[in-house]
Amino acid sequence: MVAIDGPAGAGKSTIAKRVAARLGFTYIDSGAMYRAVALWALRQKVDTGDMHRMEQLAMAAEIELSPGRIRLNGEDVTDAIRTPEVSGGASKVAVIPGVRRALVAKQRAMGERSSVVMEGRDIGTVVFPDADVKVFLDADPRERVRRRLEDVRAAGEEIPESALAAQMKERDQRDSTRADAPLAQAPDAAYLDSTSLTAEEVEEAILKIVRSRVTNGKDFS
Ligand code: DC
Repeated sequence: MVAIDGPAGAGKSTIAKRVAARLGFTYIDSGAMYRAVALWALRQKVDTGDMHRMEQLAMAAEIELSPGRIRLNGEDVTDAIRTPEVSGGASKVAVIPGVRRALVAKQRAMGERSSVVMEGRDIGTVVFPDADVKVFLDADPRERVRRRLEDVRAAGEEIPESALAAQMKERDQRDSTRADAPLAQAPDAAYLDSTSLTAEEVEEAILKIVRSRVTNGKDFS
């Protein structure tokens, strides 16, 4: 079990996918689950501030993750969850304790079924506090905006850099200051600043941590 937490644009998805492939583990994007619940709420016109209805939605949501795809109630929503509207909505529904409870239960069940590399905001602190390997992946805010802008453009969209920077700042602020499971580095997590590192370098640094855990004689699964 490898837990990777950090703010938006730190490179978590890229790195978690690569590390999972190298280890032969299942990659799980926990943020995609919050996004799926937010998408459903937006479509149903449920007020994302309605805690009770949001908890019901999160419990009822059938979320299936397969390599590179996510399904919500049987529908492939892989692309639909990547809009700026859903990004903001996910961060809003993620403050609701009932939504977190429902999704954390799903995440723990996934972690029990197989060896996983899971990325998110609270994986090392709340979801899997006993994870064998915990990494807090960070990067300079300007670099994080630059990377997100690349993703947006690769998807054929355009957004002014200043608008994207403002959205990311607002989301990070909300994710790190909420009362329930805020974005935080677990005390036993390795801190990695990816600002001036390539994906290969970050991947190698994490694999080194994994190897050191294994050779310490710990049972690694
Ligand atoms: O990783 P992401 O940007 O796709 O996540 C979308 C939102 O979901 C993020 O702003 C905060 C929330 N989230 C969370 O609260 N806990 C997680 N483990 C993962 C994501």
